[in-house]
Amino acid sequence: MSFSDTLISWYINNKRNLPWRNTHNPYLIWLSEIILQQTRVEQGLPYYLRFSDAYPTIESFANASEDQILRMWQGLGYYSRGRNMLKTAKVIQKDFNGIFPQAYADLIKLVGIGEYTAAAISSFSSNEAKAVVDGNVYRVIARYFGISTPINSTLGKKEFQAIANELLDIKNAGEHNQAMIEFGALQCKPKNPNCSVCPFQTSCFAYQHHKINELPVKLKKLKIKERFFYFFLIDNGDEILIKRRDNSDIWAGLHDLPAIEFSERTGLEVLINHPHFTEWFNGETVIHKTSEEIKHILTHQRIYARFVHLQNYNPAIIEKNGWLKIKKSQVSNYGMPKLIFGYLKNFLN
Ligand code: ADE
Repeated sequence: MSFSDTLISWYINNKRNLPWRNTHNPYLIWLSEIILQQTRVEQGLPYYLRFSDAYPTIESFANASEDQILRMWQGLGYYSRGRNMLKTAKVIQKDFNGIFPQAYADLIKLVGIGEYTAAAISSFSSNEAKAVVDGNVYRVIARYFGISTPINSTLGKKEFQAIANELLDIKNAGEHNQAMIEFGALQCKPKNPNCSVCPFQTSCFAYQHHKINELPVKLKKLKIKERFFYFFLIDNGDEILIKRRDNSDIWAGLHDLPAIEFSERTGLEVLINHPHFTEWFNGETVIHKTSEEIKHILTHQRIYARFVHLQNYNPAIIEKNGWLKIKKSQVSNYGMPKLIFGYLKNFLN
C-alpha cells in the first residue's frame, strides 16, 4: 500500500464527523478554513455553525455589515480575519459574479487566502491536486521521514511542500489532504502521539529512531532587543570627538560618537542627570540641538538614536575614556556604522 492508501484507510476509520467535511461548497469550506486558522476545532465549530446558519451563501455574507460580522466573530480573536472575509466576499460578488472560485490560481489572489487555504479550498471543493501544508502536516512529514530542517525556515517550507506534493494522491486530493490534517490532529499529536496503534509504526523514522519528541524542529524566534542611544556630537570648531567601539558588542572595532545608552526611551531631563553626563560635561554644557529619534534596524536589535549637539566638555575625559579628537575633514578616514556616518555626513556638509 502507498503512504496515501494507508493514510486514507486510517482516516476512514478514525475521522471526526465535522460539518465542513460533508460539503463541496467552496464558500462553506472557505468559512470553515478561515475560522480554523489559529483556532482549535472545538472552539471554531460553534462559530462555523452560527455563521453558516446566518449567512448560508456568499451573497448573504457579502451583504452583511462589518459590525454584524465582527459581532458574530466576537471571542475568536484576530479580527482582521473577519474584516478580510467581508472584503473578499464583496470582491467575489463583483468580480466573480457571486460564484465562489474553486481554482487555486483564482483563490490565491484573494485577500486573506494564502497557500494553505487556497490548497484546502481547491482540493476539498473540486479535488484540485494541491497539497496542504499546515502545522499538522509539518509534524507528520518531519517524523515519518526524519526531516530536521526547521519548519519555519525558507528551506524547510520548500522541502516540506515538495514532500507533501509527492505524497499527494492526485486522484483523491481532497480526501488525502483532510486525512493528513486529521492524522496530525488525532494520531501524530504534538505531545504523546499514539504510536502504539499507528499504521506507520514500522516505517516511521522518528518512531524507529526514538526521535518523536525531537521532531519537527522549529527555529526559536530570537527576541529583538531594543536599545536607546544618545550620541554626543561634541563640536569644537573644526574638530569633533569620536571613539572606537570595543569588540564585545555591535559595530565591533568601528568608530562612533561618545554615547549614553538606555534600555528604554528617556527624555533629556533623565539624560542630563546621568552620572556620565555630569562627569563628561561638568553639568554646565549647553545643549545646542537634539535630533529627531532615528530608528536603525539590525538583525536582532532595534536601535533608536538621538544626536545631541554640544560644545564644552571636561578635557580630562578624553584620555580617561580613550576618545579621539579628530578634524572634521578626517571623518571619512574612520570606519563608522552607517547610522553614525550618515548623520555626520549630513551635519558636516
Ligand atoms: N483545521 C484546519 N482545517 C481543518 C479541517 N478541514 N479539518 C479539521 N481541522 C482543520
